Amino acid sequence: MCGIIGYTGHRPAVPLILEGLHRLEYRGYDSSGVCFVQNKELNVVRAKGKLTALEEKLAGMEISLATTGIGHTRWATHGEPNESNAHPHKSFAGNLSLVHNGIIENYQETKKELLAKGIQFFSDTDSEVLVNAVANELRPGVPLLEAFAAALRKSTGAYAVALLSPDEPNTIYAARHSAPLLLGVGMGENFVASDIPAFLPYTKDVVFLEDGEIVRITPTTWEVFSLATLAPVAKKAQRIQWDMQAAEKGGFRHFMLKEIFEQPSVITNCTASRIQGGSVNVPELAQKPVPSRLRIVACGTSFHAGMWAQPLFEEWAGIPTTVEIASEFRYRNPILEKGEAVLVISQSGETADTLAALRIAREKGCLVLGLCNVVGSSIAREADTVVYTQAGPEISVASTKALCSQMVVLLLMALHWGKAKGTLAPEIMQQAVAGLATLPGQLEETLPNLQTEAKNLAWRFAACKGMLFMGRGQAYPLALEGALKVKELSYIHAEGYASGEMKHGPIALIEPDFPSFILAPHDALFPKNKSNLEEVQARRGPVIALTNPPKPGFELNATHLWIIPEAWGPLGGFLQLAALQMLSYETACHLGNDVDQPRNLAKSVTVE
Ligand code: G6P
Repeated sequence: MCGIIGYTGHRPAVPLILEGLHRLEYRGYDSSGVCFVQNKELNVVRAKGKLTALEEKLAGMEISLATTGIGHTRWATHGEPNESNAHPHKSFAGNLSLVHNGIIENYQETKKELLAKGIQFFSDTDSEVLVNAVANELRPGVPLLEAFAAALRKSTGAYAVALLSPDEPNTIYAARHSAPLLLGVGMGENFVASDIPAFLPYTKDVVFLEDGEIVRITPTTWEVFSLATLAPVAKKAQRIQWDMQAAEKGGFRHFMLKEIFEQPSVITNCTASRIQGGSVNVPELAQKPVPSRLRIVACGTSFHAGMWAQPLFEEWAGIPTTVEIASEFRYRNPILEKGEAVLVISQSGETADTLAALRIAREKGCLVLGLCNVVGSSIAREADTVVYTQAGPEISVASTKALCSQMVVLLLMALHWGKAKGTLAPEIMQQAVAGLATLPGQLEETLPNLQTEAKNLAWRFAACKGMLFMGRGQAYPLALEGALKVKELSYIHAEGYASGEMKHGPIALIEPDFPSFILAPHDALFPKNKSNLEEVQARRGPVIALTNPPKPGFELNATHLWIIPEAWGPLGGFLQLAALQMLSYETACHLGNDVDQPRNLAKSVTVE
């Protein structure tokens, strides 16, 4: 999704804005631009493609005097990704410049009205309509704050916007509605941005903005107003705990690899305050009743976390649990029973479909629980109770450590509720607690071997046209995740399937150059997976079995055995997951793809 940064202060604005845009690159983009105020004039520079194209254009320009500006990375929604559709957009009269993330749904009607007034447009975007709508409200005697608010009140849809005028050369106006925007408060300098890493080198003091708020910043002041009334809103800056290292690659070639390697410490962080005296307690759940039913709603990789945890809620806590894709849930008037809780899972806390699902659940009077990674995100703020995953900033577009953290916290929630209801056998609690204590060390030791093995497999299979990933039980959602990661990063078509469903379709795909990855841990379903493996091999398809060290009764004869250590019960999933993540990472590297910013994808999908 688009990235926004606005800066006003005492430093040269343009290099700082470019640096901030680089830190927002992970969100995904296909063009970029900046607007800076110099000699009381708005200077807009935009380029198609990566930020280097914008930097090349700026290289020969005199930019050193500008200390206020806005910047944008655009992920195309309205209009193709070219220079004229890139942001910032200037108003027709040239007196305003704006960057926008989101979609203005009623822009066509506004555009018609403005065209009738002689306004001309030079792009296909809704954002250019918005900047002209603000200019249209700006009459003599009307302050810019009022004109900006008036135009926003007439706009429907989602937006995070930042606005500049040469008449107030050190001031930035900004607002948000259903799209992320934060304020960074510095010493003699202030920031607005889509995400914290954009300004993290300069300040850790953050003001989380709510929908319906509009802000005005100068180098030494920041003010928040209600969009509806323009009455001042009292807000406080919060000091966040992130450090720069967490947002940097720290010696790794890619953020994705760094984030895969961070998973052992993520597990430790997620369990640290929730396991005491050999038992689990999730404090965030303590004040709420144990739900009689649970509906998990999420998108993408977060959806797989929900699928993975479903049997744990059912078996340990006796809570009937269903898992749904948010974009489906929101459009089908779901029946929610009294006592049923809706658990929305979202790394970013900003995914538009998941947020919409949350609002529906609230309207229906359900208890809404949020499982989020980003502190202060929309979902975190709108849920009745939020449980944070503590994975730290995840920069790579393809989610890895966030899923690991979601799985840990969901497992802890199932143990917590199982204990509260008295449905959990004490030995499960003991084994889970003991297993979680050793898991980080085990994973840490295994990760380098997984990478070596993944590299070998990438050499062998990166040229294939498709791949099949299969698993049963809790390995099934991991097979889906393995296929998703390969698709996202390698652009190789991959299918994730429940092993038992193979004979109902995908078996037709099997041929000598079509690899099948079977997740076959040493569990009760091992013999079933073994039969599936044999069915594939009988059709001369290569099989890579992700399994545990051989022992009597668990023999396998596959084209390639990928041996990973055994762990207690569901904890084996964390090792399988890391193996699949490494496989997709190494395959993408082998193919020379852009690992951290795969084509067409966005980190946080804040539009439908
Ligand atoms: C995007 C990302 C995925 C992520 C999904 C849901 O598609 O590329 O990695 O799983 O959104 O995001 P969320 O922030 O709600 O977990």
